[in-house]
Amino acid sequence: MTGTAAVGEAPAKVIITGEHFVVHGAWGLAAAIGLKVRAEVWRGGEGEGLSVRADPQRGLSRTPDVGPVRTVIEELYRARNERPALRVKLTSEIPSGSGLGSSAAAMTAAVAAIAKLEDWPINENGIIEAAMVGERKIHGKPSGADVTVSTLGGVILFKMGESPHRVELPEEVKLVIVYSGGVRNTGTLIGRVSFARSARPRFFSILSESVSMLSELASRDLVELKLEELGRIITLNHTVLGSVGASNAVLDDIVELCISLGCYGAKLTGAGGGGSVIAIPRPGTAEQVSKQVGERGFKSFVVTIPSGGVRAWRREEDEREKRS
Ligand code: PMV
Repeated sequence: MTGTAAVGEAPAKVIITGEHFVVHGAWGLAAAIGLKVRAEVWRGGEGEGLSVRADPQRGLSRTPDVGPVRTVIEELYRARNERPALRVKLTSEIPSGSGLGSSAAAMTAAVAAIAKLEDWPINENGIIEAAMVGERKIHGKPSGADVTVSTLGGVILFKMGESPHRVELPEEVKLVIVYSGGVRNTGTLIGRVSFARSARPRFFSILSESVSMLSELASRDLVELKLEELGRIITLNHTVLGSVGASNAVLDDIVELCISLGCYGAKLTGAGGGGSVIAIPRPGTAEQVSKQVGERGFKSFVVTIPSGGVRAWRREEDEREKRS
């Protein structure tokens, strides 16, 4: 394709502690990881409208859902009394429906790319706000953790209605991610946990306060590189998530498997009910654990945290850099 173009790239995320409870006001801890979604945008011709397409994911049978990205773009232009004449292509390294925030990354990458293309002065908060439009379309009551982490990058202590706190790690930390293969619907899982809350509100409220404490402790452990303690904390968080309906037998088995392979602890990450597990490997064992998990039939990979947030550039800047 020819013409002025811009590119945005945004990272996937893992929730280290606090998913679901963040939707109900608890503190959560999340980190950007090195898997990315790339959004390439080109100006379309007069009257051409908006076309959004996604490349099929390599090694995966699914194509990411482009609906929420389309909604976000339409809203961006509607707020400026304009209509988009754009072609957008998404390329994702993140398995969709895997609890790693592929939709949030697609939306933040697209917003950043379009802001670059149109020369709109949209800052990080603006990107988060714009992408939240799509998050609401996906599951009604998002906490905003996914789009915040995908935009800002790093490791973030997060609570709805508060400014995100950056957690600075003294060095990179490796995590093993195990994909259960089960695709699930975030909205359905949020509904299930919200039902557990309405059935036993006092129990839920104590769990929620405890999860906030776990997030605080987990962030301290990361700063002090106390990975063994971090492993215990996330495993406890997994149990809490199971008690409100977010886990299942496959995820519990993956947690057990990771611990049997020497990890300090493991838990589901994201909405649960399928999706992925994160595990804290002993130093020097991450690749071996991932390989062994792979031999049991699960897709697994090693990531380091933190990773950078969304970035965007114009295509000609890209070309100029290549020539210099
Ligand atoms: O499905 P995911 O990975 O995007 O995880 C959603 C995390 C929840 O806490 C369940 C929802 C939210 O908006 O925070």
